[in-house]
Parts: sequence; structure tokens; C-alpha cells
Amino acid sequence: MIQSKLPHVGTTIFTTMSQLAAQTGALNLSQGFPDFDGPQALREAVGRHVMAGHNQYAPMTGLPALREQVAAKISRLYGRQVSADTDITITPGATQGLFCAIQALVRAGDEVIVFDPCYDSYEPAVELAGGRCVHLHLSPPTFSIDWQRLADAITPRTRMIVLNTPHNPSGALLEHADLDRLAALLRGREDIYLLSDEVYEHLVYDGREHASVLRHEELYARALVVSSFGKTYHVTGWKTGYVVAPPALTAELRKVHQYVSFTGVTPLQWALAEFMTEHPEHVTELPAFYQAKRDLFCELLAGSRFGFTPTPGTYFQIADYSKIRPDLNDIEMAQWLTREHGVASIPVSVFYQSPPADLRLVRFCFAKREETLRQAAERLCAV
Ligand SMILES: Cc1ncc(COP(=O)(O)O)c(C=O)c1O
Repeated sequence: MIQSKLPHVGTTIFTTMSQLAAQTGALNLSQGFPDFDGPQALREAVGRHVMAGHNQYAPMTGLPALREQVAAKISRLYGRQVSADTDITITPGATQGLFCAIQALVRAGDEVIVFDPCYDSYEPAVELAGGRCVHLHLSPPTFSIDWQRLADAITPRTRMIVLNTPHNPSGALLEHADLDRLAALLRGREDIYLLSDEVYEHLVYDGREHASVLRHEELYARALVVSSFGKTYHVTGWKTGYVVAPPALTAELRKVHQYVSFTGVTPLQWALAEFMTEHPEHVTELPAFYQAKRDLFCELLAGSRFGFTPTPGTYFQIADYSKIRPDLNDIEMAQWLTREHGVASIPVSVFYQSPPADLRLVRFCFAKREETLRQAAERLCAV
């Protein structure tokens, strides 16, 4: 008998729903990845760098040219000067960066505060480190932080708070005022670290500004900020991301990173560095690119019986189906929609440790071509 270190972990709902979509031929609006390709110049650059012999280990911290580009972007967008040498680490996906940050800082018996609905990779990492997640609910319908509850949840054992903004699955955004509030709450507790998952940093709509922890002097001192080239350049399969943190935290992160993977894939890093140098506008054009998709999807979905408010960020749209099949829980609903109506989604309850009983929400990913969104919306309007 194997005594599992992760007895609660099974196949994730993302795999299950993508498999069901493939089996049934449904349109897959479940897992968060585009059904279109990344920029041609970026893809061509990979081939060129492979042929140019950039195929051996990159430095452990990541290719210097790519770290420089990340530093330049952070300076441009968030006004913070970070050192490419001491503050930035390239990781094989944001997932690996998050994992290494947690392993580096969380000890046996520590508590890590997470907010439900919560992305699924944090908790197993905390458990493997011997820690325990303390789950707080975000308050619907806006999925905002209940500050009193957070204040009450902080104990002498609290080691880390995990933020995710823009937020998967709700799309909610933290405001600068929220960060100020958090900073005030944590004053005097320098032993609490902040892990800020900002993989959707460029997917913020309606002219709003991403309140990155990188903009916040006081919070950044205790923070590790994680992002994903996969999300930003429409190449989720490249699994390449980065972590930005002050030098002392970066040093601890790298101690783990160098023994988990040592480094990321070399030619991908060359291609990303080159593309970021030549196309700095890609990230500034991204909000309009995805906002057009959100607007199209929401306009079309307005003719359906789903209830929703256009999402302020990410490429996910949450929809309430309580007027359609209130008798089904959201897992049943997602399966029914896939089998009977040919559109796969993700039930929101899977992002909770203990979901509210009356939750009737599914999540659609709108990182899709126009024809996919039109077809999906047509099917959803017929439900
Ligand atoms: C909130 C969040 N964090 C991290 C990730 C993982 O990013 P990556 O593919 O770069 O590992 C995802 C991917 O869906 C995500 O939604």
C-alpha cells in the first residue's frame, strides 16, 4: 500500500472536462488555453534558435537577455526598477515558479492563506511542504476580499498569503486600495510572505489598470510575483514563466528552482527575448485584443438564459445558470452542457475547499477564435 503524500489529489477537472469535450466533439471552452496560435514571428524564432545551436542548458536563473526584457517591461508598465540579475528568475511555467516559491518559504506546521475560489496548484504545493492552507471565501458577486475575515485568519503560524489578480476563475481585480489595506494589515509581521499570482497581468479591460504588487513599495519587500509567457504570448504549451522578488527572496527561490528543474527550455527563452525586444507593443495591445473577444462573447450570450456581468479581467467569463437547470449542481451542469449542448465549461465549485451549497456557476474560457465563440454562443443561447 502506498501512503500517498497527496491523498486528496486525483485527475483535475481541467483534464476531465477537456477529455469529455474531445470524446463528445464539444467546443472546448473549459481549460484556459487559446484555440489560436501565438505570433508567427515568435514561433519562427524558436525554429531559428534551434537551428542556430541554442540547444544546451541556459543559465540556472534564465537567459540574461530574457531577464533584461522582463526587467524593462516591469519598469515600463509598473514603474519599478528591478535587477535582472538578482530579482528575476525564469521558470518552466508559472506553475513551477509558484511551486518553488512555496517549497522555499513554507515549513512544516505553517499556515498559508488562500482565497476560494482558488487556482488548484497552490494547495498541493503547500501540503508537500508540510504546511496547511487556510481557505477564506471571496465575497460574491464581486469576489472581493473580506478584510475582517482575513484579519481574523492571521495567526502566529501564518507564513504566506497567496493573491491572484486578475483572478481565475472569477476575473475579479484587486485595486491599489486593496493592496494598501493588505500592507497595513501585515505591518509588524515581516515573517509573512506574499505570493502574488499575476499570470493574467495583461488581461485587464475597460481601461482599468492592473494593480500589480510590483507597483507597491511596501508589499513588494515581502513578495514574490509570478507571471507566465504562456498566457501573454498565446503559447501555454511552452510552459515558460518567471518570478520577480527582492534579492533575498529570489536567492531562496533559486535554491529550490535549481534542484527542481535547474533551468527552463533554452530556445524558447531565446525566442521570447527576441520577440519581446522587437515587439514591446504586444503586451500593450493585449487588453484590447482580449476585450474584443470578451465583448463579442458577452454580446452573443446576452440572448441566452445565463446570467452574467462582463468579466473585468482574465480570459474567463463566469455565468450563472440558476434560471436554466437549478436542479443540477455545477459539475452535473458542466457535464450536461458538454454532452447535450456541445459546449464544455468548468464548474466553479471545484475551486473551493467547501463550496457554497447554492453555487450555480460555470466558467467559460473566451480565448477562442471568433467562429468558435459564435458557434458556442449559438449553442448556449439554445439551452
Ligand atoms: C491563476 C493561474 N496561475 C498559474 C497558471 C499556470 O501558468 P503556467 O501555464 O505558465 O504554468 C494558470 C494557468 O491556467 C492560472 O490560471
